[in-house]
Amino acid sequence: MRLSRYFLPVLKEDPKEAQIVSHRLMLRAGMIKQQAAGIYSWLPLGFKVLRRIEAIVHEEQQRVGHIPLLMPTLQSADLWRESGRYDDYGEEMLRIRDRHKRDLLYGPTNEEMITDIFRGHVNSYKDLPLTLYHVQWKFRDEMRPRFGVMRGREFLMKDGYNFDLTREDALHAYNRHLVSYLRTYERMGLQAIPMRADGGPIGGDYTHEFLVLAETGESEVFYDSAITDLTFGDREIDHDSHAACQAVLEEFTSRYARTDETHDEAIFAQVPEERRRSARGIEVGQIFYFGTKYSEPMGATVVGPDGSRVPVHMGSHGIGVSRLLGAIIEASHDDKGIIWPEGVTPFHVGIVNLKQGDPSTDSACEAIYRDLKARGLDPLYDDRDERAGAKFATMDLIGLPWRITVGPRGLARNKVELTSRRTGEAEEIAAQDAITRLAGVYAPILGQPVSAA
Ligand SMILES: Nc1ncnc2c1ncn2[C@@H]1O[C@H](COP(=O)(O)OP(=O)(O)OP(=O)(O)O)[C@@H](O)[C@H]1O
Ligand SMILES: [Mg+2]
Repeated sequence: MRLSRYFLPVLKEDPKEAQIVSHRLMLRAGMIKQQAAGIYSWLPLGFKVLRRIEAIVHEEQQRVGHIPLLMPTLQSADLWRESGRYDDYGEEMLRIRDRHKRDLLYGPTNEEMITDIFRGHVNSYKDLPLTLYHVQWKFRDEMRPRFGVMRGREFLMKDGYNFDLTREDALHAYNRHLVSYLRTYERMGLQAIPMRADGGPIGGDYTHEFLVLAETGESEVFYDSAITDLTFGDREIDHDSHAACQAVLEEFTSRYARTDETHDEAIFAQVPEERRRSARGIEVGQIFYFGTKYSEPMGATVVGPDGSRVPVHMGSHGIGVSRLLGAIIEASHDDKGIIWPEGVTPFHVGIVNLKQGDPSTDSACEAIYRDLKARGLDPLYDDRDERAGAKFATMDLIGLPWRITVGPRGLARNKVELTSRRTGEAEEIAAQDAITRLAGVYAPILGQPVSAA
């Protein structure tokens, strides 16, 4: 992409309405525009990151065998009457009436609808285990939408639902989700700690939330600092193996880590004092096992091995896809702007032309731009007729992990500058070497096949 042809409406001034850094930076970097309280347009740069995050979520779901589908945003109230949640859900549910006076709602979550799909099409235990998921917009009429996309009213969520014959199989599905979530967040450059949580309106007492530690987080958390040493890395886990997934769950949940809802001072006191931490965290996901809470009232049953009908055991598992943009920025920025982790960056590298209009500088930039694209990379070339300082400020603000700076002085020595956004370290190297270096940096990321469904 050439910046002169892109749509990147960056703001010079700090927007007054933004209370936290991620919201401020997303507005300043021209990623989002508020349309109503808690409702945003995703401008091209923001949309690009959203899509990258979504792609990682899809890949990691499908890696462990979960199957994508797409359910609508609008749902019939009747389904929710069956489960009893139409009345229970309260003011957070946006209720709509169509021209035939039928009650609809904008889905805040999809347990009822997926249970309806399941009961209509699955009959036998032989079709289990089954996990279906989608990435779809949700609406919750939050009392206080705030912090930009972190607490929106309309927001994008991945929600997945497992259907199993037994409690044991459903708990395996729970563990498998935990495994896949750990990997998902790490690919986005995040440490998200699974913490014991509370069931809330989804129900169920078997649940973990994934929290990214950040001062601006809305949740109060308590944990044993030893937990922050754990990383999932690139382990290959056999996702069908109950023992393998259980071992990961035990490794990542054996240390004390709880949100304030389940915090227990007496148990916490057993953690060595120097390792006790209390902090704030951003909830970026949650997994639940809730057994037959929906399958029973809604009649989602299968014929078991002995020929009798039994309700299936279920769980639901959510990732806050749009909230993740805010969480990543909260975790990764400096006073100049965003610092995108390579796994989610909107463009892989920025090219800054220090002397736009100078034939040899222009053609060097064009050649670098073409070569990067030929290597499968996605560069953003700042080809505007602007001062170097303004170009650097824009690049720093939008946070691309790498920058190649091209000017006549360097070119005279056949050199460009390759700068890391995170460390600020700059290196004078030949253009071809910079390109090779970047191709190497991104090889593991581009190696992943990107598929939306
Ligand atoms: N209003 C919102 N705006 C953006 N993301 C949200 C919002 N509500 C929930 N999410 C995201 O969706 C994920 C799954 O939804 P879940 O039902 O667990 O939310 P929740 O526990 O009600 O969230 P919260 O406690 O933050 O209100 C959450 O972990 C969170 O990352
Ligand atoms: Mg939650």
